Amino acid sequence: MFDFNRKVDRKGTCSTKWDRYEDRYGLDDVIALWVADMDFETVPEVRDALEKRAQHLTYGYTDPDHKLYAEIIDFERRHHHIEIEEDDIVLNTGVVYAVYELVKMLVKEDEKVILMPPIYPPLFNTPLHLNREVVYSKLIDHDETYEIDFEDLEKKIKDDPKIKMFILCNPHNPTGVCYSKEEIDKIAKICEDNDLWLLSDEIHGDLVMPGHEKYSALRASYNNNKIITLNAPTKTFNLAGMKISYALSKNKEFMKEFRAEAKASGLSSINIFGFEALKAAYHYGDEWLKECIEYIYENLKWLKDYIDTNLTKAKYRIPEATYLAWVDLKEYHLPDDFVDRLMYEGHVQFNPGSGFSKEYKDYIRVNVATDRATLKEGMDRLCAWLKENNYL
Ligand SMILES: Cc1ncc(COP(=O)(O)O)c(C=O)c1O
Repeated sequence: MFDFNRKVDRKGTCSTKWDRYEDRYGLDDVIALWVADMDFETVPEVRDALEKRAQHLTYGYTDPDHKLYAEIIDFERRHHHIEIEEDDIVLNTGVVYAVYELVKMLVKEDEKVILMPPIYPPLFNTPLHLNREVVYSKLIDHDETYEIDFEDLEKKIKDDPKIKMFILCNPHNPTGVCYSKEEIDKIAKICEDNDLWLLSDEIHGDLVMPGHEKYSALRASYNNNKIITLNAPTKTFNLAGMKISYALSKNKEFMKEFRAEAKASGLSSINIFGFEALKAAYHYGDEWLKECIEYIYENLKWLKDYIDTNLTKAKYRIPEATYLAWVDLKEYHLPDDFVDRLMYEGHVQFNPGSGFSKEYKDYIRVNVATDRATLKEGMDRLCAWLKENNYL
């Protein structure tokens, strides 16, 4: 049994999530429920592997070995029923960097990508930064779930031959939706019919809640030769600082080209500890992951009860995957800068919904991958700030 309920003090570790407040704002007691990493300690065997490697005092250039590829192949088969070979894999130092390189390779400057907001900001900011136009097909927000607007999607793609790539996020950050086999097949078919690349960011794909399944785009019945997925052990095992991820595709010819590009640009220059961390996590981490998901699920359910009791006008449904809760605070009629004010005045930080799409400025994304007491303190501070300012 792992103790996910134990508070881990991350201050002083150069943590993006926890270490910015004192440094930048002179605040030393902010509760950080934002950026998507976990406050949990990782798999103990990862620590052992890192310690063992650190003991060897040579830290020269590295290359992946067959054992590393074998761990990825085995993990993907065991967890996602995907059959891949070594040359279907290109190692990357991060998913966002891989998106950058792949958009650059596959979409020309006067061409476009399409995606479905609200969505993880780098998935549109990276193409925009590269001067590729982004076309948006909004998800439909029903009370029960977020639904893909297939009619809109298909029309936009058909009407605009400049669209060359569909960027999917599955499971979807921030809505927490896991797309079904039918939805993935439908997307892949639209991409095949219109000759689009399908780039599927599946980094949250191991963190799926009970009763749901991630159906990888690699299992789609269409468009086999133009599908690429982006995966990593980093969200799954709290290893984001290790900078290791990988792309998968059945298109061996393209992967050969991409491997060469990734080598030339430094995208595949993983550091020594990244290799060790991936190997140990994928080899030894299954039980840790199972218990971690159980704990996250309890936190997600706890949050539902908390909101139903204390924030009765808020809307939130338990996500199908991810440790990210997407909370609609529209009914409180908050000012546009409320997330910043919550940090400065309320000493709690969430991700503002506006980052994922302008229309979602009344939403917050709450990261529940922390011990329950920290989550509760963060939510209590939200309620206290709302009361102090007469919104509650
Ligand atoms: C959907 C999604 N993709 C990619 C990333 C970042 O991946 P990386 O750190 O490998 O660039 C995140 C991190 O929050 C994410 O939520």
